[in-house]
Amino acid sequence: MNKPRETLVHARAVFKSYDRGKITVLRDVSLDVKRGEIVALWGSSGSGKSTLLHLLGGLDVQDSGHISICGLDPRTETNRLDLRRHHLGFVFQLHNLIPDLTVEENLRVPALAAGRSAAATRERLLELTDRVGIGHRLNHRIQDLSGGERQRTAICRALMPTPRLILADEPTGSLDEQTGSIIFDLLKTLAERDGIGVVIATHERRFAESCHRIARMRDGRLDEVPQ
Ligand SMILES: Nc1ncnc2c1ncn2[C@@H]1O[C@H](COP(=O)(O)OP(=O)(O)O)[C@@H](O)[C@H]1O
Ligand SMILES: [Mg+2]
Repeated sequence: MNKPRETLVHARAVFKSYDRGKITVLRDVSLDVKRGEIVALWGSSGSGKSTLLHLLGGLDVQDSGHISICGLDPRTETNRLDLRRHHLGFVFQLHNLIPDLTVEENLRVPALAAGRSAAATRERLLELTDRVGIGHRLNHRIQDLSGGERQRTAICRALMPTPRLILADEPTGSLDEQTGSIIFDLLKTLAERDGIGVVIATHERRFAESCHRIARMRDGRLDEVPQ
């Protein structure tokens, strides 16, 4: 008998509003994501995708409802630190790398926070950059890279702590069509080959349809789209 796959995201009846309740962005949102799954958070601009990812990643706090990430409640500061250092990787639309630093220096930042040795860090960053095809760019500064290379670096940075879950917020949004596909395929491989859970916010139907499941955000609600 197969072992049930570990649930990485467990969100139930989550509500979130801004401006002291004047704008309700999430209404009774529930979501489960397991190991090895890539799930699309699909919806138009302003539908609440980033808001939900921020709650899952502990960057913001829900008004009510329950969220558990890798078994931890991200509202607690110690859990948040633990998640960010060891279990969770974030990839943003605009990569959030430090432009003046090299690829290698950017990748060393999360390893430093996780307290990893210099040798183990070097080994991991060589393995990851080689895998995504930027191994020859280690000593180049971020500002000298193409958009696709920057986003690959951002994915490597998210992967440095060997996370179980990746939250990707429109990671293909600033890229051309072909480069966007390369980045999407990379995230899908991480789910299928490495068993990582991936939640990808996107407004692009072609990417949503290539995910294992589609959760559609509309009018503050999240509905699973049957595939
Ligand atoms: N900090 C904030 N304060 C007030 N309103 C916000 C804030 N963040 C997001 N919103 C509003 O919440 C809605 C959802 O935004 P967002 O989650 O960024 O959507 P998406 O990522 O799907 O484009 C939008 O109407 C946006 O204006
Ligand atoms: Mg967004």
